[in-house]
Amino acid sequence: MTTMESLIGLVNRIQRACTVLGDYGGADNAFSSLWDALPSVAVVGGQSSGKSSVLESIVGRDFLPRGSGIVTRRPLVLQLHKTDQASQEYAEFLHLPKRRFTDFSMVRQEIQDETDRITGKTKQISPVPIHLSIYSPNVVNLTLIDLPGLTKVAVEGQPESVVEDIETMVRSFVEKPNCVILAISPANQDIATSDAIKLSREVDPTGERTFGVLTKLDLMDKGTNALDVLEGRSYRLQHPWVGIVNRSQADINKNVDMIVARRKEREYFATSPDYGHLASKMGSEYLAKLLSQHLESVIRARIPSITSLINKSIDELESEMDHLGRPIALDAGAQLYTILELCRAFERIFREHLDGGRPGGDR
Ligand code: GDP
Ligand code: NA
Ligand code: MG
Repeated sequence: MTTMESLIGLVNRIQRACTVLGDYGGADNAFSSLWDALPSVAVVGGQSSGKSSVLESIVGRDFLPRGSGIVTRRPLVLQLHKTDQASQEYAEFLHLPKRRFTDFSMVRQEIQDETDRITGKTKQISPVPIHLSIYSPNVVNLTLIDLPGLTKVAVEGQPESVVEDIETMVRSFVEKPNCVILAISPANQDIATSDAIKLSREVDPTGERTFGVLTKLDLMDKGTNALDVLEGRSYRLQHPWVGIVNRSQADINKNVDMIVARRKEREYFATSPDYGHLASKMGSEYLAKLLSQHLESVIRARIPSITSLINKSIDELESEMDHLGRPIALDAGAQLYTILELCRAFERIFREHLDGGRPGGDR
């Protein structure tokens, strides 16, 4: 594991410990600066634009409910933890702390069941997140958030307010300055009508934390291509656009696995007359790499707020938490201790390995 990988891994664990403690992102206290130092990545886009599919490709595992209509009905906060090469891959839910999932189809089932537990077997949505961690040698350290898709109309079984409720929920995640936005637009619809671009432009007008992702390139009408979007002529973002070919519904029904799907995606770009010249900068694997590089630079920039937190004592932190006036977990002291220990480990590794503490020395 590289130094940066272990640092991001530590940040992931700090974020998880903060989650157990409660969300301190909004309040102005010692944790808000720490919280800001911990980036996450959320998907935004219209319903069935391919959000869950993109997240699955980044993870490299099949485990999310996908399909037509409203499938994702609660936010899923997914933490990826990179482990040693030899260790076995497993998943763990925050609401089922004692159970290790090694069968990822059971993970999908549990996401569905846990969604239904809150919303019933309806098309209703809930803003209460499901927290899932995946431990694997094959992932990059990232926190990813899968969200319900933006819609224009309520369907049978949904209250009229659902359109607004979804937008409010999605906005609550992506308006946080530490949230990196994967703005997902399907290539078979006009980019000018993209819900993803519309919302991300509102919450991130400069585009510094927005990555434009164009899915369904394989579904475009014959004789058309998406070069104007992919080459930044239609809508310019600070980061380059990434084109993606996910599995089709037919592939999903046939259980085409991730390795095969990734190979097909690579072949699609390598052999495409339209996109061949962009092949090395397209696809899910490239997107994952781009994201983790971006997160590295964000974390490097936030190191001062992490180090300032470690200079506080548990007593100071506890009294800051008291001022919040919110109910806190009984074992909050232990959690605080964990967070501080993780922060200390972070600073130690940082100082030891990165050119005497100068950010950028790890390359
Ligand atoms: P979400 O609602 O935005 O989370 O979208 P899903 O990931 O659930 O995908 C919706 C449907 O579109 C599924 O049937 C996917 O198989 C299909 N889909 C997503 N991306 C692509 C793509 O790049 N190409 C093709 N052919 N189908 C896709
Ligand atoms: Na869908
Ligand atoms: Mg989805």
